[in-house]
Amino acid sequence: MVATIVVGGFWGDEGKGKIISYLSMKDLPSIVARGGVGPNAGHTVEIDGQKFGVRMIPSGFIYEKAKLLIGAGVLVDPKVFLSEVQTLKVEKRTKLDYRCAIIEEKHIEEDKSDVHLKGKIGTTGTGCGPANVDRVKRIAKQAKDVEQLKNFLTDVPLEINEALDRGEDVLVEGTQGFGLSLYYGTYPYVTSKDTTASAIASDVGLGPTKVDEVIVVFKCFPTRVGGGPFPTEMSQEDAEKLGIVEYGTVTGRRRRIGYWDGKFARYSAIVNGATQIALTGMDKLDKECFGVREWDKLTYKAKKFVEQVEDDVKVPVTLISTGPDLKQIVDLRREKC
Ligand code: GTP
Ligand code: IMP
Ligand code: MG
Repeated sequence: MVATIVVGGFWGDEGKGKIISYLSMKDLPSIVARGGVGPNAGHTVEIDGQKFGVRMIPSGFIYEKAKLLIGAGVLVDPKVFLSEVQTLKVEKRTKLDYRCAIIEEKHIEEDKSDVHLKGKIGTTGTGCGPANVDRVKRIAKQAKDVEQLKNFLTDVPLEINEALDRGEDVLVEGTQGFGLSLYYGTYPYVTSKDTTASAIASDVGLGPTKVDEVIVVFKCFPTRVGGGPFPTEMSQEDAEKLGIVEYGTVTGRRRRIGYWDGKFARYSAIVNGATQIALTGMDKLDKECFGVREWDKLTYKAKKFVEQVEDDVKVPVTLISTGPDLKQIVDLRREKC
């Protein structure tokens, strides 16, 4: 029985989707639950040439026996939710907490037109900030008030805690990243909620004493979309020279690219209570690592980088992603945990 939370360590888009889909296929958890803000997230899951972009459904959908739950803390856009449920054909095993707050068209319109939100902060325009405002004012609708969602309602904390009591594994998926946390991030250039592991646990109703592992995902080259400070940012030309060009899953905006930031990563790991690190984009650091699945086959440069990360952050690197496909990964958990 293990409860694991996976969160982003930088400014989102670290590859949580990839890591969570891998862990789901490898560890076979009975539940994969989604915490985090809402459909502002875009997780990418790639398997055998097939690519999925999910905004509401947990990335663990790829493991067909997992029950897929969305915690009460998450904002739900019914259109996005229903369309993903249909496309992925997961109607029978997907449920959301009856207390999830609802994003309405008016929230999206405001998010897309507000000078401060769209203009200054550079939000995703998915209505999350304005919907969380209504939630705080206690005027937002909840999932139980929406007719089209009535077949999907459940009590997520009960489902998760009962599964753990039965001795099953539960995987909890965070969204965004530490630098986007409303409390600890680069305020005001942040999202509308805390994004650390404690918040994700609360989103799904998992008490702090029940959490066994916190895996923080870091990219070898951090990225950021939208406005705000980015201490190790490199120029677009330098990023292109390194062959790194990325675009956002939800908004299509070009991601800003930076160099590894050990100090920021350490602080992020402390506040998240990290027990393990997943490092993604090793193939971007050294092309020769593309697709490698064994530690011994990683290059000297890659191994040295892993050493540096562990030295900076003081947490073991247990997963090293070497490409977008979920099989392109070095899994060191057996040796290190
Ligand atoms: P948010 O919840 O929106 O923060 O997203 P995320 O953390 O799930 O990441 P997202 O899928 O938005 O972005 C990561 C991108 O990197 C995707 O296009 C992945 O397919 C890709 N990716 C993940 N791991 C690796 C890797 O090790 N190497 C390469 N080349 N690409 C990777
Ligand atoms: P909001 O969450 O849409 O309000 O956007 C606030 C800030 O967080 C903006 O800088 C967005 O670009 C950023 N952001 C929100 N969600 C994500 C995400 O999933 N990945 C990366 N950046 C995000
Ligand atoms: Mg993303």
